Amino acid sequence: MFTPIPTLLIALLTLLPRPALSYTTLSPSSLSRIPSGGSDFDPTTGALLAPLLIPRVPGTPGSAAARRHFVDFFASRLPRWTVATHNSTATTPATGATLVSFTNVILRRDPPWAAPGDVARLTLVAHYDTLYRPEGFVGAVDSAASCALLMHVARSVDAALTRRWEAIGEGDGLGGEEVGVQILLLDGEEAWESWTEEDSLYGSRALAEEWDIVRHEGVSVFETPLKAISLFVLLDLLGAADPSVSSYFENTHWAYQKLSRAERRLREQGLLESKPKTGRFLPDEERHSFSRGYVLDDHVPFLQRGVDVLHVIPTPFPAVWHTMEDDGAHLDVPTLRDWARIMTVFVAEWMDLGDYLEPAPGDGQEEYRERDEL
Ligand SMILES: *[C@@H]1O[C@H](CO)[C@@H](O)[C@H](O)[C@H]1NC(C)=O
Ligand SMILES: [Zn+2]
Repeated sequence: MFTPIPTLLIALLTLLPRPALSYTTLSPSSLSRIPSGGSDFDPTTGALLAPLLIPRVPGTPGSAAARRHFVDFFASRLPRWTVATHNSTATTPATGATLVSFTNVILRRDPPWAAPGDVARLTLVAHYDTLYRPEGFVGAVDSAASCALLMHVARSVDAALTRRWEAIGEGDGLGGEEVGVQILLLDGEEAWESWTEEDSLYGSRALAEEWDIVRHEGVSVFETPLKAISLFVLLDLLGAADPSVSSYFENTHWAYQKLSRAERRLREQGLLESKPKTGRFLPDEERHSFSRGYVLDDHVPFLQRGVDVLHVIPTPFPAVWHTMEDDGAHLDVPTLRDWARIMTVFVAEWMDLGDYLEPAPGDGQEEYRERDEL
């Protein structure tokens, strides 16, 4: 992560609002059914989060263990999601001539009848790698917490997606796009020495390049996997208390507003736990002017290729950012569970799941228990 650039990149983009067609608002009773993840976000014992709080430097055993955690979770608990990896190699300024391997993990659920090239995918993204130095750095807000959040979101919408697609069957959309969801857990976001265009974003640069080049087979709605991304929602540096996330991009402000409204409605219904000093996690619901600066992160290679981006990152960054204090003890679990609820609402609304959510199973009752230790 690196902060400031008032930049010319943004001037190169076409800034057209592109609202999603099927987006519907959850009712108050559906909102009350959104699960928080309960104790799964406990930093020492939580089944989703705790296994990730280890150093995850690309190409090391910790990185492989984190990937195993993701893959085992989806294979055992969410078998309807396809699991794929995308690999690349590069040299880094810290490791000389040796090639380092970077492995992105791609989890995906499309309507069962849809051809891959016909699906517009809500794309939820976080990076799982950690800094090369300081040695032992475990990156709790950067970005283990965001990865665990996305696992929770997938779990929370999975059954409703199945029910919805079974109920509507083929022929949904009245000639419109098919709508799917994918999660990208990216490798190699961090710089190994200091942030430059070459020393950063190893995984996302390789993936954006490939997805810009590969063509879908046959006649398809979207020419490339890149064009099939309806919105790139990047989570980063979440999990510390009192976050304040701005609306960074005018062309996706409509999507920011959906997220901000989800927070407001959950808060108004008393369904959030945290009492942020900032008042709101997402205070810019009514914002009307936008600066040209944004935070450099995994969205950049996609943004440069014209993908719409919603960047969910607090500014200022958490105080522990890039220090050894960025560990489990410095996470604020109520804040994390609130993000889990807010993001789940956003995705459930995007995927039009209001009628298909289950009655609340009781927070913390639906824990994921792990099959094997890492
Ligand atoms: C990418 O690398 C991982 C780890 O080395 C390996 O398990 C996986 O099969 C590779 N994926 C592809 C698509 O080659
Ligand atoms: Zn970082």
